[in-house]
Parts: sequence; structure tokens; C-alpha cells
Amino acid sequence: MYDTVITGGIIFAPDKTFVGDLRITGERIVEIKEGGGLEGKLVIDATDKYVFPGFIDPHVHIHLPFMGTNAIDDHESATKAAIVGGTTTIIEMICPGPEDEPADAFKEWKTLAEEGSCCDYSFHLAVVRFDETAKTQLRELVASEGVQSFKIFLAYKGALNISDEHLLELMKMCKELGVTLTAHCENAEAIDQKQKQLINEGKTGPEWHETSRPRSVEAGGVQHLCEFAERTGATVYIVHTSCGEAVRRAMDAKARSVDVTVEAVIPHLVLDKTFAERSDFEGAKYVMSPPLRDIKEHEALWNGLAIGEVLTIGTDHAPFNFHGQKDMGREAFTLIPNGIPSIQERVDLVHTYGVCQGKIDLRNMVEVCSSNAAKVFNMYPRKGALAVGSDADIVIYDPDFVGSFRHEDGLSKIDYSGFEGMERRGRADVVLLRGKVVAKQGKFVGEAGTGEYISR
Ligand code: URP
Ligand code: ZN
Ligand code: ZN
Repeated sequence: MYDTVITGGIIFAPDKTFVGDLRITGERIVEIKEGGGLEGKLVIDATDKYVFPGFIDPHVHIHLPFMGTNAIDDHESATKAAIVGGTTTIIEMICPGPEDEPADAFKEWKTLAEEGSCCDYSFHLAVVRFDETAKTQLRELVASEGVQSFKIFLAYKGALNISDEHLLELMKMCKELGVTLTAHCENAEAIDQKQKQLINEGKTGPEWHETSRPRSVEAGGVQHLCEFAERTGATVYIVHTSCGEAVRRAMDAKARSVDVTVEAVIPHLVLDKTFAERSDFEGAKYVMSPPLRDIKEHEALWNGLAIGEVLTIGTDHAPFNFHGQKDMGREAFTLIPNGIPSIQERVDLVHTYGVCQGKIDLRNMVEVCSSNAAKVFNMYPRKGALAVGSDADIVIYDPDFVGSFRHEDGLSKIDYSGFEGMERRGRADVVLLRGKVVAKQGKFVGEAGTGEYISR
């Protein structure tokens, strides 16, 4: 049993921010005292530092067989990177192929996570196959494994996308089971046609990726999903929303009482489409879907976060090496595996480019990077809160750390950093996972495989 006291920090409790002490026994927070005065066997001095609830990344890919390859991280490397960056819980997307049974996929992903995960984890289960076997298994997984969210793709024709017929029926099932449907909103057919046209015109470089899947296609996907949600009463969560028009369509639906939540992911908030236009195929590092947009969309997304239209910031961590994976698409951008990894950098990027630049405040940062995801995905207040009884997942954050993002500091297996050389303000100084210190000043000091599955 641990008995740890964190003293003198600026504590971000659910309703209030104050200087005080926080005591942990075993895996839980047992006491929080404004002004201080608590004692314990292990004392961690947090003077002049923020004390945040452990951050939650609601959109992560680790095991990801996709576009002819598999994402390069394993659960140990990705979650070590998460922990040193202050993320103590992730929700990973289980993405089976069209032939795979959901029960097998769930077992495959869960086994891998159990072996290596250094942070706590849960899953969104992608519905790619939707025959009678799949339907039965989906119901069973909700009942027996606490799966509370499915995922669908309105993209990736022939690989992951779902038909309208299946989508409508799945939404009815979600409504019946009380499951949230997370969705990648684009349009698989429209993208396929545009990609073919561009390639035929000899427009083969990564700079054409954005043209192949414009904002109108993404906004149309959001509209489509929301219309189906309106018909069925399903609860929907739109992942990696990249532009103001897509947010607006979701908010229009919300005004019609559609139960819709919007997620942003960090690459869309700090990088723009000019990165994917870099010469010598360097742009391939910045190919993800939906694509990086015009820089003016940053303001639309940050503003959406500030006013509560966009409720969460995830990463969409999907790491493919530049050498040996991204370069599969040298002849055609359509073959570049999609993804920009950021599981380690997310919190510091939000602090640097959101808080320090006055786009959101610190309490807003805690909400969009932790509490809101816990609430939306049924983990609150066990996760996402500094409260008596909550898991002692805690980040003692040093806001005065100044540096730059560097690939050499990364614990992911990826061979580049999409944020190389960018200014960095702030760092997770100490990270605790269920009461145990697991990271100090950017170094992992925990034990691999000790992350726990969160049944929701
Ligand atoms: O580019 C991306 N987003 N890669 C991962 C798969 C997905 O669509 O989330
Ligand atoms: Zn996606
Ligand atoms: Zn994703």
C-alpha cells in the first residue's frame, strides 16, 4: 500500500482550482485539502506546479493493420510514450478487417494490450463486418466485456468503410444497447473517385492528399451521420474533426436535439496543409485523414474548444515510419499509410499552443484533455477527476519548462517527429498511475504490462 502526499501544488479539482495537498492510499485519492497540512510516507513537493488529473486520449491506434502494413508501435512503446507525456488512460480503436469476427478481434487487441500496456486502456470496437454472426458477437461484447463504444468509417473504400444499410441498422442497435457510435466522417466513394482522377492527371505527390478529400466531403459526412442519428436516436461522437464547417454541421444537428459530440485531434490544431506540401516526399510524414487543412481552420477548432462546441482533444496516434512505410506511397499518395503520431506530445502541444497562446484556459485544458472524455465514455469520476475515491492518476505539471519537441526524446518506435523543432512550453514533471510513480521528467520509471483494462 502506498501512502503518498503531493504537497503545495495548484490542484485542479472538478469545481475549483486551489493550492493544497492531496493524499493517496493504495490506488485511490483519499483526501484533498485546500491550504495543505496533510502527511504521508512519501512526500512529493509540487510547489509552483499544476496538479492535474491524468490525461485521457480517446483516440489512439497501436495495433493497426492498415493500408498494406501495420502501425510501428507495440503497446509497450506507445503507452510508455503516453505516460511520459502525461496520458494515463487511452482508448484504442480495434480495427478488424472485413472478414474478421468482432469477438476474435477484441480478443486479439486485448491480449496485446494486456501483455504490454503501461497505462490504463479501453477500446472502441470498429464495426466493419455486420452479418448475423457479427451482430450476435457485438451484443455479447457489450454485455460481457463492458464495450461501450463502436466505431465506423465513412472512408477507406473496400477496407474499413460501412454501407448505409448497415450503418442505419447498427445505429438502431447502438440506441437499444446504450452504446456510443464513434465515427470517421468523410465519404468513401467521393474520395475514391477524386483520388483516381488526381492520379490519372499525374498528381501523385503527398501535396495532393488534401485535394482528394476536401472539407466539403468531411462536412457532408458529418451531416450524413447526424441525419441518421436524428432518425434513430443514436448517440454519436465525431472523431478527428478538422474544420469549422464540419463542426458547424454537428452543431446544427445538436440544435435539432441530435446527441452528438465533436472531437479534435492535436495534429489538426497545430499543423496545417503546407506541411504535407514539403518537398522531397517529406510531406508524406504529414499525410493523415481527414487531411491537415488551411491554417485558418486552427482558429475555428480552438474557438470550438473554448466555447464548448468541441469537447475533446485526442491524438489519432497512428505511427508509420517514414522509411519503409510512408515511402510505400512514393509513386502515388493514395498508398501512403495515413497517420501522424502524437501520443507523447499531445498535452504539451495543447499547453504550448492552446493555453500559453491564450486560446483556451487551464481548466478548459483539463476538461478537453481529460474529464470530458471520461464523462462521454463512462469512466468518470474514476478517471478524469481529482476527487476522493478517484483513481490516483495524477500529473504534476511544470509549466515553466521551456524546450522544443525533438524526435530523440520520443519513446514511440516511430522514426520521425511531426513536431520536430517546434517550441515547447511545459512538461509532465511526475506522473502517477493508480498511486504509483511511473514517469519523472520525461523518463519512464514504471513497469511494462501494469496497465489495466477499463471495462465501461
Ligand atoms: O490518418 C489517420 N487518421 N489514420 C488512422 C486511421 C483513422 O482514420 O483514424
Ligand atoms: Zn479516422
Ligand atoms: Zn483514428
